[in-house]
Amino acid sequence: MKQEPVALSSRTVVGPSPPAKQRPRIRLSRNGPYLVTVDDLTNSKGERLQGWNGVALCRCGASLKKPFCDGSHIRIGFSDDPRPERTPCRVADCGDAAQPESGEVNPPSIRIARNGPYMVQGFDLDTENWSEGASRERFALCRCGGSKNKPFCDGTHRSIDFQDDGN
Ligand code: FES
Repeated sequence: MKQEPVALSSRTVVGPSPPAKQRPRIRLSRNGPYLVTVDDLTNSKGERLQGWNGVALCRCGASLKKPFCDGSHIRIGFSDDPRPERTPCRVADCGDAAQPESGEVNPPSIRIARNGPYMVQGFDLDTENWSEGASRERFALCRCGGSKNKPFCDGTHRSIDFQDDGN
């Protein structure tokens, strides 16, 4: 039977609740790329990149098709195993993503920092490696492959002079 909205007054109409909107999710492929569907994927030059049908984003730093994965993680033997010298990830350590929490909920987006991480907001992330104090609304994901705090950026892209002129 079709459910009709119920008029409570001349100004208020209550109908069936809309389904709760799920936050989009970033998945980590083991020793491989980030898997994500994203409407708003933009590089550091302000160019919008196609990501709405699902993309594999490089996180080993070696792809020749950055920011997309080209399978190079297999060639270089990329490992996302935790490093023994792992240090706590704090927002302030996350390279170029060190932005204050505003408290507002922003639409999901991924911005590619110049020669740096993916700056993510509004996504859930499949990881057990959240550190104390890390923001779940806004975070920086390593794309140089060198972070000791994978999947998060810890600023290593600077010390290894990670370069991605194309983005
Ligand atoms: S991109 Fe910052 S540590 Fe890898």
